[in-house]
Amino acid sequence: MVKNRLKGSNFLDLTFLTGEELEDLITFALKLKREGMKGIKPLNGKSIGLLFEKPSTRTRVSFEVAVLRLGGHPLYLSGGELQLKRGETIEDTGRVLSRYLDGIVFRTFSHERLERLARVSSVPVINALTDECHPCQALADMLTILEYRDGFEGLKFAYLGDGNNVAHSLMRAGTKLGMNVWIATPPGHEPRKKIVDECMEYCRTYHSSLTVTTKPREAASAADILYTDVWVSMGKEEESEINQALFKDFQINDKMISLAGEDVMVMHCLPANRGEEITDDVLDGSHSAVWDQAENRLHAQIALLDMIYG
Ligand code: CP
Ligand code: NVA
Repeated sequence: MVKNRLKGSNFLDLTFLTGEELEDLITFALKLKREGMKGIKPLNGKSIGLLFEKPSTRTRVSFEVAVLRLGGHPLYLSGGELQLKRGETIEDTGRVLSRYLDGIVFRTFSHERLERLARVSSVPVINALTDECHPCQALADMLTILEYRDGFEGLKFAYLGDGNNVAHSLMRAGTKLGMNVWIATPPGHEPRKKIVDECMEYCRTYHSSLTVTTKPREAASAADILYTDVWVSMGKEEESEINQALFKDFQINDKMISLAGEDVMVMHCLPANRGEEITDDVLDGSHSAVWDQAENRLHAQIALLDMIYG
């Protein structure tokens, strides 16, 4: 049971859940979205810290609201305003915060920094994005696909762009849920080999597939889902100019849509750089699922918190 697996635990990435457990969590999120929490408040009297070392709109606000809806008290803690800024270690910060809080939602740079915080914390730690992965985003994305498509098996899921944190979590979720995942990136921007190898194992277990390519049109061809993210992630701003030329063939535009399946779903984790990885026409067009996808951050995280604290 996924509830037993998650109760009181950290949520650092999607490696530790089986495909069945992941599907149960997403199905539960859809049920909560449709039926509500029926007054149950598993976070009653609990305080959850949201420690962010990078900017955020969706993750921050959806977690604050999720904690409030479950009866808890969210505290937003900007890394730049804590003693971390003056050199206090992440370990000492984690030890101290654990004495006040019942959980820490952490957005940071290296995944190792998240793991260091989790190692010393005596309360659950939830990954709100690292340079390696963004598992809460993938939960909301899979919830959106379940809502629109009623299942996962055999869907062609094509991600076009940078092989980044979002791509890594989508690869893990997609291959565990039985999808045919395509990741198309320019040369040099492929997803990390360690995560590709890990997902190849999931493909064997869950009868899914993973194709990593530098050919965006092949990936988009007959796709059920087209997904993209910014070409330059937070913390990598110096790559910005080079990437414009390198990534231009990976843009999701009308031409790319015409290669995909007739009722292709277009997804983007947001924030978008309109006119770069996706055109206005597509982002605002009839195939776009992005606003439901953004809303689903809230529902997926309510389900996650209920599993951890319920
Ligand atoms: N998708 C996402 O994580 O958005 P924020 O950076 O606004 O939280
Ligand atoms: N890949 C992006 C995702 C933002 C939600 C970044 O890390 O900046």
